[in-house]
Amino acid sequence: DTAGHAHFLIKEISEQPSAVERTLSGRVDERFATAHLGGLNLDAREARAFRRVKILGCGSAYYSGELGAQLIEELARIPAHAEPASEFRYRNPVIEADTLYIAVSQSGETYDTLAAVQEIKRKGGRVLGVVNTVGSAIARECDGGVYLHAGPEISVASTKAFTSTAVAFALIALHFGRVHDLSPADGRRICAGLKALPGQIREILAKEEEIAKLAAQYAQNAGMMFVGRVRGWPVAREGAQKLKEVSYVHAEAYPASELKHGPLALIGPELPTVAVVPDDELVEKNLTTMGEIRARHGRVLMVGHTAPDPKYAEDCILIPKNEPELDPILLGIPLQLLAYHAAVALERDVDKPRNLAKSVTVE
Ligand code: BG6
Repeated sequence: DTAGHAHFLIKEISEQPSAVERTLSGRVDERFATAHLGGLNLDAREARAFRRVKILGCGSAYYSGELGAQLIEELARIPAHAEPASEFRYRNPVIEADTLYIAVSQSGETYDTLAAVQEIKRKGGRVLGVVNTVGSAIARECDGGVYLHAGPEISVASTKAFTSTAVAFALIALHFGRVHDLSPADGRRICAGLKALPGQIREILAKEEEIAKLAAQYAQNAGMMFVGRVRGWPVAREGAQKLKEVSYVHAEAYPASELKHGPLALIGPELPTVAVVPDDELVEKNLTTMGEIRARHGRVLMVGHTAPDPKYAEDCILIPKNEPELDPILLGIPLQLLAYHAAVALERDVDKPRNLAKSVTVE
């Protein structure tokens, strides 16, 4: 049951502090500034041997894999890419011995992801799972992996599993980083950042009422644009996905720097933009993009850490700052609340959106 919440979706959004605590539990090693993930079944020599990481998943699992690829590249400096598992399995993929494959799935039963894992194994590749459901088909098929321990997710739209997956990737990236060249000081910084996440997620959840008011306004538009750069880009993609899944408001995500190469033509008073703006070295670039949108009379809702000059954004959702590498995990949470409250305002079937299934176990 929904334990007093109006829907499973908001129950699961609210459960994220404890879901993240469980994903982290017993895995953060502050003494050696690393992460312990016994289920990976890789010793340090094997973990060093991979030259590339390829992450596979569907829907929100794929977008959380994009956050994971970003974390692995940043902390471990191993080239990493995410790809939809469905595309991968149908294109006769080249399987390389020095690539580590990682399959992401909340349910562990998504057929396209399972088929991708089977294809990798058939060709002799090494594949790990980042999976929520213990003993599921994908978990059993993989050579090892990380369980999320996020607890059951009932609502079709994924929220706590998405966030816990990103946290699991931060642990994997920290572990791989520390068998490569990530310094103990940086390792300790990430350990402290990980431990701060649950409390900071609670602070973001406390802004629900403020976000609900904005959602009710923005839901009146036929569509929305979501933009982000580098660390903000996977967050923007998942934000757009969440909005379209549960509210049926059309949403498009673009890398902020790509806007002027085409989609800027869409911008006007009738198409507002959500700008995901981490407080990193790209913040000025993001403000420039927001300025370009405002110059075309597009309304901007900024999700970030520091209030900009009001000329850049009509509306702002400000959230606490963690470490730059981990901030994307936090920036996704207000976008979940935005999608949820847009769906509520439009009286949608929040937990069971039309045409969708929680787990697609057929081709
Ligand atoms: C989709 C669901 O069909 O499957 C999404 O509607 C989900 O919410 C995706 O992200 C992948 O599911 P799983 O269980 O493999 O993470």
